[in-house]
Amino acid sequence: MNIEQDKNIPEEIKYQFKIILVGDGGVGKTCLANRFCFNSFKVNTRLTIGLAFNTYSVIAKENGNMVRIGVAIWDFGGQKRFRSLIPQFIAGSHAAILVYDCTSFSSLINLDREWNDILKHNSGELPRILVGAKCDLTDTSTIYEKNAEKEYINKLKAKQHILTSAKTGTNVDKVFVEVLREVVKEMKPELEIVSIVK
Ligand code: GTP
Repeated sequence: MNIEQDKNIPEEIKYQFKIILVGDGGVGKTCLANRFCFNSFKVNTRLTIGLAFNTYSVIAKENGNMVRIGVAIWDFGGQKRFRSLIPQFIAGSHAAILVYDCTSFSSLINLDREWNDILKHNSGELPRILVGAKCDLTDTSTIYEKNAEKEYINKLKAKQHILTSAKTGTNVDKVFVEVLREVVKEMKPELEIVSIVK
C-alpha cells in the first residue's frame, strides 16, 4: 500500500525543518534538488536568482505513533552577487548540504574558504553533509587525491560525505534522507524515520 493511503499517517505537519544547499555557482545544487523532488534533470539550467525553494515530507515514528515532518530545501544562488541575502537564507536552518563539483577541486576548496566562516558566523554548529556532485563525470583520472577529500571532510566538519549524480540519480535520495537523520539525531532523537514522501 502507498504510505500516503495509510489512515494512520496524519496529514498535518508536526515538525518543520529547514535544510540549506550551499556551494559555488554551477556545482549542481539546483539539479540535485530537482532530481530529488521532481525526478528530473536538465542539461542547461538557469543560474538560481537569489533563492529557490522546494519541499518534501517525511513520515516518522514517535512513541509508537506516526507523525509527519515537513522539510524545506532552500537553494542558494552560488553567484557572489547574491551574498547580501545570506543572513535571511541561513536564519532558522537546521542543517546544511555543502555541495562541490567532483570535477572541480577549487569548488571544494571554496567551501572551506568561503562557506565555513559564513556558516559559523550565521548559524553556529549546524549538522553538515558534504556532497560531491556530478560523480558521473569522474573517472580515476579526474578524481583527486582521496587524502585531500578526507582533509576537507574534517575541515568542513561534515558528518557524512556522499558522491552524487543528478544526471543518473546516484545517491540523490540518500543525501536528503541522511541530512534529515542528522537533524533528527540532534533535535528529536526519539523520532525514527520511516519513509520519505516527495
Ligand atoms: P547556481 O544556480 O549558479 O548556484 O548553480 P547550481 O549549483 O544550482 O548548478 P546547477 O544545478 O544549475 O547545475 C549547473 C550545470 O551542471 C548544469 O548545466 C547541469 O546540467 C550540470 N549538472 C548538474 N548536476 C549534474 C550531474 O550530476 N551530472 C552532470 N553531468 N551534470 C550536472
